[in-house]
Amino acid sequence: MLDGKKVLFSGMQATGNLTLGNYLGALKNWTTLTDEYQCFYSVVDLHSITVRQDPAELRKRARNLLTLYIAAGLDPEKNCLYYQSHVTGHAELAWILNCFTYMGELNRMTQFKDKAAKHADNINAGLFTYPVLMAADILLFQSDVVPVGKDQLQHLEITRDIATRFNGIYGDVFTIPEPYIGKVGAKIMSLQDPVKKMSKSDENPNASIYLMDDPDTIIRKFKRAVTDSEACIRYSDDQPGIKNLIDIFSACSGMTAEQIVADYEGKGYGDFKLAVGESVVNVLKPIQDRYAELQKDKAYLDSIIKTNAEKAQYYSNKTLRKVQKKVGFPERVR
Ligand code: TYM
Repeated sequence: MLDGKKVLFSGMQATGNLTLGNYLGALKNWTTLTDEYQCFYSVVDLHSITVRQDPAELRKRARNLLTLYIAAGLDPEKNCLYYQSHVTGHAELAWILNCFTYMGELNRMTQFKDKAAKHADNINAGLFTYPVLMAADILLFQSDVVPVGKDQLQHLEITRDIATRFNGIYGDVFTIPEPYIGKVGAKIMSLQDPVKKMSKSDENPNASIYLMDDPDTIIRKFKRAVTDSEACIRYSDDQPGIKNLIDIFSACSGMTAEQIVADYEGKGYGDFKLAVGESVVNVLKPIQDRYAELQKDKAYLDSIIKTNAEKAQYYSNKTLRKVQKKVGFPERVR
């Protein structure tokens, strides 16, 4: 608890262009949780360097992502929005937690296996211990809830295991966090291969809707979305393309899957795809406009970056000092 509220932590990587999956699976839910929780949202740039990055590009993307957090509706007065690399506790706690995490556990992580296969020339130790840094992010703030898409559930599970193990040795040090998965949009699939998740690292640009895509591009990508030859709009695992479009439509329009199916019964895929595309444009256009406005205000963004990093540093130090003491590091001389 922090100032009478439960604590929430989440983060996104500033690598690649953010997709509709990132928005519907995470960011959109974040904006509804501001009043209920003390919220910390980080741009996780330490995680980003587990894959080779161009430094200037990474810096730019990190700033763009923080701007996008605000443009999507996170009020930086009420939510602590900051760069992970500005708060020293993340890396410090990660080191300690590394010593309480087993190689076998990390070996089982599907994201590691996927990324190792994709970057076979750079399977570095950071990529392997990535979930431990993620555990540190979450535990550093004594977080109660972590809103994420379904693909992050395994990392949440290992976070809980590490925290429980640590508490078992040293007493109640960490709050055990719960995942928060939204009702709709928790796993948005590729528009070109609907059994694969929509991902910012997909090489085919038609597979993903990027948050900065203009309306024409969005409509065009939906028109080209891969479906099937059933010629029937049903919410069924046998029609993964149509199911994914219904999920997207539902998340962007507020209608339930049943309503959508009833409304589009007997209509062609063409009309349906257009309606889905328009619902996405209606959601993304205001965010894009606000983003463009915010980008002009350099001084405002700089002040947010500074004050929120200080706040995050302050709160995270409380946990870090406690952990350092528990494991036996010498007290600081004042
Ligand atoms: P990242 O940057 O890959 O994704 C950010 C968020 O977007 C969600 N997401 C999706 N949701 C639905 N459908 C999709 N197709 C889709 N693709 C991505 C992710 O589940 C995530 O919530 N390791 C994390 C970042 C991280 C983090 C943390 C998250 C670092 N530390 C601590 C929570 C708490 C990652 O790479 O997310």
